[in-house]
Amino acid sequence: MDVADTSRAFGIDIGGSGIKGAIVDTTDGTLVTKRVRIPTPRPSTPKAVAEVVATLLRGADWHGPVGATFPAVIQHGVARSAANVDKSWINTDVDAVFTEAAPSATDVYVLNDADAAGLAEARFGAAKDVRGVVIMLTFGTGIGSALLMNGVLVPNTELGHLELDGHDAEKRAAASVREENKMSYKEWAKRVDRYMNHVQRLFTPDLFVVGGGVSKDAAKWLPLLNLDTPVKPAQLLNEAGIVGAAMAAIERHGE
Ligand code: BGC
Repeated sequence: MDVADTSRAFGIDIGGSGIKGAIVDTTDGTLVTKRVRIPTPRPSTPKAVAEVVATLLRGADWHGPVGATFPAVIQHGVARSAANVDKSWINTDVDAVFTEAAPSATDVYVLNDADAAGLAEARFGAAKDVRGVVIMLTFGTGIGSALLMNGVLVPNTELGHLELDGHDAEKRAAASVREENKMSYKEWAKRVDRYMNHVQRLFTPDLFVVGGGVSKDAAKWLPLLNLDTPVKPAQLLNEAGIVGAAMAAIERHGE
């Protein structure tokens, strides 16, 4: 597909188990093509992941702006951490690796996965038109965070790595911890509550948005949280990363 329409971009969401992509209409946050999912290669080395990115773009015959999420600190295209991905990514220019692997005339813009989800929720989802400070937290393999002020993103906040009771917070309260330890939502919600109260104390947000796979079960655990800040489940669910990545490719946040 060609890029006669400058509001369209290809969004790619890179996660620990799957790499998903689609063409996005960034004016309304809808997917223009069906979401394609390819399992994340193991090990998830730069070369192997770049090949999947290229396959997705070739499959859609896409030659235009491309945005990709990455589950690490991304400073001007370069990975500065690798909590839940292959360590060989640290200090890799992810932007350059993907751009090189992509079909010609395709420039790839990379940003942190939770930051992408936060941008999408702020523009089209649970935080649409919300003024003030919004914190999005994604509960998955780790905990991702996005901090927005009047819809403007402050990237790479990494609030999942706050130290809480002597632990890395995501090692206590990520959704994967609940699954691995076969915890009930009630037990797990106690940890999430403790964690979110801590974040609340530090940032006094106007709204929390909670995302990740567990957001579809929000009714089971959101009512168990005891916070002063309103909390809303993410609305774009598993499309938020793709949509936010595509938005960032057009707007090129923080470049
Ligand atoms: C990483 C973050 C990422 C989050 C969610 C954390 O372990 O440090 O960069 O956003 O997981 O994938």
